[in-house]
Amino acid sequence: MSTTSNAPKKNGIVEWIDYRLPIFTFMNHELREYPTPKNLNYWWNFGSLAGIVLVVMILSGIFLAMNYTAHVDYAFVSVERIMRDVNYGWLLRYIHMNGASMFFLVVYIHIFRGLYYGSYKPPREILWWLGLVILILMMATAFLGYVLPWGQMSFWGATVITNLFSAIPLVGEPIVTWLWGGFSVDNPTLNRFFSLHYLLPFVIVGVVMLHLVALHTHGSNNPLGIDTKKNPKDSIPFHPYYTVKDMFGLGVFLVIYAGFVFFAPNFFGEPVNYVPANPLQTPSEIVPEWYLLPFYAILRSVPDKLAGVIAMFGAIFILFLLPWLDSSKVRSATFRPIYKQLFWIFLADCLVLGWCGAQHPEGAPLLIGRLATAYYFLHFIVLLPLVSKFEKPRPLPESISTPVLKTEKA
Ligand code: HEM
Repeated sequence: MSTTSNAPKKNGIVEWIDYRLPIFTFMNHELREYPTPKNLNYWWNFGSLAGIVLVVMILSGIFLAMNYTAHVDYAFVSVERIMRDVNYGWLLRYIHMNGASMFFLVVYIHIFRGLYYGSYKPPREILWWLGLVILILMMATAFLGYVLPWGQMSFWGATVITNLFSAIPLVGEPIVTWLWGGFSVDNPTLNRFFSLHYLLPFVIVGVVMLHLVALHTHGSNNPLGIDTKKNPKDSIPFHPYYTVKDMFGLGVFLVIYAGFVFFAPNFFGEPVNYVPANPLQTPSEIVPEWYLLPFYAILRSVPDKLAGVIAMFGAIFILFLLPWLDSSKVRSATFRPIYKQLFWIFLADCLVLGWCGAQHPEGAPLLIGRLATAYYFLHFIVLLPLVSKFEKPRPLPESISTPVLKTEKA
């Protein structure tokens, strides 16, 4: 069969389908012609990267689940069997384990990109909210998944985190019993955690779809933070310009990801989780995975348990209010001299919190953690509203090409 005779026939089928279900027209609009600001830098690669890692996580997870047993007597050994006996089981597990860290790395960069360039500002507030819902779902999924290998950290992590709910007055204890499905973290807990760990990624897929609908409603923000709709010359079609740029970014990302999978597969892991869960022996240190450490530090820096839980959840929920806390009309930090400084201080503050979360909560780390927690909230509640009121932003260019053309003239 010659390829030339095949081509029109293929188009005919595509047309036949498209006439009845315009899926190809839709993809053409949203992935090929889709007008995209022509100045997007590499920080705009991280959304598509997050989407790809999500698919990798779901696929590797499905194959892992085929060989995993969600029972307290078999969970740990079933994971060891995956590592030793299942064909390429070690690869599947290391892809999934390190994929979780890569996913958070990519999404945190994606979020901080949004913070720097003011992508949460009107008209993208709901897009930002949907992103936050994804973040919360990701944290829940990662926590549930970490319990499944039923190692020491799995068991004690689950115990500590579920116990947080007991701080709620009156209904706290019944809620914890309900979550556990009994009076301690045990087989019913493991079972429901597995069920939910399998379910939530698909919920994330659904929310990601909404995220993209919201994104494509007003289009991408850009490093200058100006509206590109007014000037048609500011936009280029998504394909081939950004498909190629995304592919390049994906290549670089895969090298880093594969580096961890093949050369340092336990880099992000906790050695004590290779010890089977033992309800009678508490590990000397109970720490979550690196991506939850800043929130863990906030939890532990408040002396009162309930207040600590409120502060920890508050640290995420305050992000929902960000579009109103930062009311400056100018989006990009490029034109906001004071906000730009605050952005870097805030980033440093989050890293310090991460460090504190991994330390024993006493002495200097505890004090630093408390100061960093106070600064976290100060940033949102006091500094951002003040800066958006009093800062004098630099003048904005009329279009993406204006500053470029001006430089050429000079
Ligand atoms: C599974 C996780 C996620 C996926 C797959 C995803 C996907 C995407 C994609 C493909 C884009 C367009 C490309 C880009 O701007 O980088 C985007 C934009 C955006 N995302 Fe996400 N996202 C995720 C999580 C989040 C989270 C957690 C937040 C914030 C809390 C967020 C906030 C935003 C914002 C504000 C934009 C618009 C950026 C702009 O136009 O400047 N996303 N997302």
